[in-house]
Amino acid sequence: MPPTAALLLLAAALPLLSLSYAASRCPDCGSTTVPYPLSTSPTCGDQSYKVRCDAGGTLLFDTLNNSYPITSINPEGQRLVIQPASLLDNTCVTSDLVHQGVQLNSSLPFNVTSSNTILYLNCTTTLLNSPLNCSSASLCHTYVNGTRDAAACGAAPICCTFRAGGSTTSYSIRVRDAGCRAYTSFVNLDTSEPVSLWPKPGMEIQWVLPPEPVCGAQSDCDGNSTCRADPAGSGVSRCFCIAGLTWDPTQGVCVESKFFGTCILSYILIFAARVTMDVPNMCVYMCVCVF
Ligand SMILES: *[C@@H]1O[C@H](CO)[C@@H](O)[C@H](O)[C@H]1NC(C)=O
Ligand SMILES: *[C@@H]1O[C@H](CO)[C@@H](O)[C@H](O)[C@H]1NC(C)=O
Ligand SMILES: *[C@@H]1O[C@H](CO)[C@@H](O)[C@H](O)[C@H]1NC(C)=O
Ligand SMILES: *[C@@H]1O[C@H](CO)[C@@H](O)[C@H](O)[C@H]1NC(C)=O
Ligand SMILES: *[C@@H]1O[C@H](CO)[C@@H](O)[C@H](O)[C@H]1NC(C)=O
Ligand SMILES: *[C@@H]1O[C@H](CO)[C@@H](O)[C@H](O)[C@H]1NC(C)=O
Ligand SMILES: *[C@@H]1O[C@H](CO)[C@@H](O)[C@H](O)[C@H]1NC(C)=O
Repeated sequence: MPPTAALLLLAAALPLLSLSYAASRCPDCGSTTVPYPLSTSPTCGDQSYKVRCDAGGTLLFDTLNNSYPITSINPEGQRLVIQPASLLDNTCVTSDLVHQGVQLNSSLPFNVTSSNTILYLNCTTTLLNSPLNCSSASLCHTYVNGTRDAAACGAAPICCTFRAGGSTTSYSIRVRDAGCRAYTSFVNLDTSEPVSLWPKPGMEIQWVLPPEPVCGAQSDCDGNSTCRADPAGSGVSRCFCIAGLTWDPTQGVCVESKFFGTCILSYILIFAARVTMDVPNMCVYMCVCVF
């Protein structure tokens, strides 16, 4: 076989390198990429993962009664960071006190991660009986002392610190009149750093990897999947991938099994190498494909 034929073979093999086909990802919101499964409209993403793109091109995360700007998204880790509410001018009360702070709908696949250090400010004495760290050495005092925007909180003697993610805080960072009236949050805070080096406030939220999309009929699925009843028994049907393809929850499409693609590709490359380099007795490679 002449080298040109080997090159043609190589060219034919190249598409196998891009094993996924992004079909249902939503369009960018302003300059922000909206990764699957996040959804800004009924025609893209997964409808259990709704976020909102406002007219100004800002991506917003809606909680039960409020919404917060999304400041970053890490699709590989299924995480996003929202900007917590700020303090009302010259008070130690956050603007979302009326909504009781950050309240996620626990029926949705989002939760507050344990990477958040939460500082509760302007608390009542009832908090002193809580498991939170409300001591005079608590980090919240260091924060208040070192943050000009939180100066008003210096007049509120009780504040508390804790790491989020326990079962009681995975859907709710609650502020209320009978508890604490303000809060802020930091992601992956290195508490040994001085306050001047702390990052901007942020609250990290994680999502569960999405199952195959819900369908009502075969026409809701693409050619690589069939609409079948979910064996998990939830009473819905989903677009399950056809044989030889597997569901990629990060892209939202059926992809060729990695083993299969890599196997064919390496076989073709080795074959091409043998032909082009014209090595007569090169050993024969066996390729075991796993579906
Ligand atoms: C603490 O919260 C109470 C109740 O909302 C408010 O009246 C008070 O002004 C707040 N304290 C400060 C220092 O802002
Ligand atoms: C959230 O909104 C619902 C209905 O709009 C209301 O009944 C509820 O009291 C609100 N809850 C909070 C904490 O604001
Ligand atoms: C929470 O989410 C579920 C599932 O989408 C929805 O049916 C329900 O109405 C939501 N609850 C509230 C209070 O918004
Ligand atoms: C509270 O936090 C401070 C500062 O991180 C720490 O020195 C102290 O031991 C903590 N107290 C309790 C009761 O956990
Ligand atoms: C408050 O901050 C100042 C300097 O910013 C520092 O000198 C002082 O020790 C701090 N006080 C407390 C109680 O941390
Ligand atoms: C949040 O959701 C993730 C993904 O399902 C899960 O692994 C984690 O345990 C949950 N965290 C909490 C605090 O519920
Ligand atoms: C189906 O999968 C194949 C192989 O992964 C791909 O080439 C094709 O574009 C996919 N078709 C659809 C409609 O996604």
